[in-house]
Amino acid sequence: MKAADSSGISFTALYTGAVWHRYGLSDEALATEQGRWLYHLMTPFEVGSKTLIGGNIRTFLLQRHLIIDHLIERALERGVTQVLEIACGMSPRGIRLREKHPHLHMVEADLPDMATQKTARLLTSGRLGDHHQVMPIDILAESGEQTLEAVFARAFDSKEPVVVVTEGLTSYFSLPVISEFWKRLAALLQQRPGSVYLSESYLMPNQPLLRGALKCLGGLLSTVTRSDVSFHFLDDQQAAEHFRGCGFPSVAVHNPVEFYGRLPIPESRHDPMVRVIEARI
Ligand SMILES: C[S@@+](CC[C@H](N)C(=O)[O-])C[C@H]1O[C@@H](n2cnc3c(N)ncnc32)[C@H](O)[C@@H]1O
Repeated sequence: MKAADSSGISFTALYTGAVWHRYGLSDEALATEQGRWLYHLMTPFEVGSKTLIGGNIRTFLLQRHLIIDHLIERALERGVTQVLEIACGMSPRGIRLREKHPHLHMVEADLPDMATQKTARLLTSGRLGDHHQVMPIDILAESGEQTLEAVFARAFDSKEPVVVVTEGLTSYFSLPVISEFWKRLAALLQQRPGSVYLSESYLMPNQPLLRGALKCLGGLLSTVTRSDVSFHFLDDQQAAEHFRGCGFPSVAVHNPVEFYGRLPIPESRHDPMVRVIEARI
């Protein structure tokens, strides 16, 4: 059976890529013209949200990105030497990690078109090799070379633990659809004790005005990306229980507030809407 097509989401990676670049986290090789253009287009909206509600998309992007980086570093300190970044888009994380940890085995994966673009950009800057690879994947695929299981088998020949990251991916799918992916991932990671899955989730805020605005924004994003943008959980406890139910025995739900003053992340005026999930096997 053919997997559903989620390629409408891919262009959003150009915006996030431009944000990483603008905030000094990226590399020239990953800066795209369309990303620059989207960055300018979004600026009035971003400035307006920051003024009105004390936070904006760029706030939670930087919060989630830098907290995930921090949690990866913690896993590497515990001895993990393999990282798989699914839905890598124009994420510069692979470049940065390989520069800092030359022995790390880094695998980036995304839908075939995005994987081809990423490969070309990393190749021209001389970054790919045995320890840094890019592979096509479709997390919705149930058979063939692009399934999660096939990519794992190709990427990692040992049963050593892996850090798996999905950033900016899961909220584009309904909870039942993405939960199937989480269960398959948990089953794979259970064969590699010590593995960690890192991702982010967005909680629906309590304030009615903000709630209404976010529902509208989610609807708009669903239309332009031809996806099912969803807020999966009402609170941290619900999120943790859900991940445990998917097969991750140990789950921490990190609120960016925990990292204020410790990591160079922007602070939200109210409770941040993003959470970083650290699910360990
Ligand atoms: C918002 S972007 C995030 C990119 C990157 N992680 C970042 O934070 O900059 C979403 C990414 O998900 C990828 N994607 C969409 N559907 C996918 C699927 N079924 N399997 C794997 N990746 C997918 C897109 O191609 C895109 O690169």
